[in-house]
Amino acid sequence: MRRGAIAALACALLAAGCERQMQDMYDQPRFDPNEGSTLWPDGRADRPPVPSTVVAATGDIAGTSSARRGREEAQDWRVAQQAQTPPPISRALLVRGQERYSIYCLPCHSPLGDGDGPVAQHGFPHPPTYHQARLRDAPDRYLFDVITNGHGVMYGYADRVPPQDRWAIVAYIRALQLSQDAPVAQLPPALRDKVAAEGRR
Ligand code: HEC
Repeated sequence: MRRGAIAALACALLAAGCERQMQDMYDQPRFDPNEGSTLWPDGRADRPPVPSTVVAATGDIAGTSSARRGREEAQDWRVAQQAQTPPPISRALLVRGQERYSIYCLPCHSPLGDGDGPVAQHGFPHPPTYHQARLRDAPDRYLFDVITNGHGVMYGYADRVPPQDRWAIVAYIRALQLSQDAPVAQLPPALRDKVAAEGRR
């Protein structure tokens, strides 16, 4: 009986200590928004945003849970839209794709796309070459999904490569594939003659 009472007392004391610590966290020294301070010449505790700061949320969204929820919803929606719609192929898209490919894919897949990049040469499992019928025939969406989710031992790039850039990379992989498997008839005449002179198909 007495032991029980002591245990109950100990519990109560512990809980009280805990509560005080929680309160201390609320009461810690800090400035609230719009509070005054002698620290800065303008007398304000909060600092004005640096020039060219972009407003992250305004209106109703700004009022919801630090504006984060609304912003994330808007962002998710935009990302979903971009993932659905491949942008039209343009030179700028290919240049962007080449640049992003060089950063994110080339280390393993190599500049040529044959899977013999420097990382693979140093021990990472060799990726398959892009220059095989299965990957040539695979739809753009398949390549897009591999970038998004990864494939086998390759991890996904959804967090680093936004949808628009994934489409740009897919377009560039198509260009790489074409570079290794173009029908001779489709080459510009000067190149066609050169290939013919070298006796290749
Ligand atoms: C760290 C090395 C590495 C990087 C970086 C990398 N990959 Fe891969 N990738 C691999 C490996 C390894 C495989 C084979 C995975 C398996 O089959 O287990 C692979 C497979 C693939 C495949 C073939 C999937 C299939 O059906 O066989 C595609 C397409 C691909 N990667 C595209 C990309 C693109 C695009 C990027 C850049 C955004 C990229 N990879 C970045 C290592 C990498």
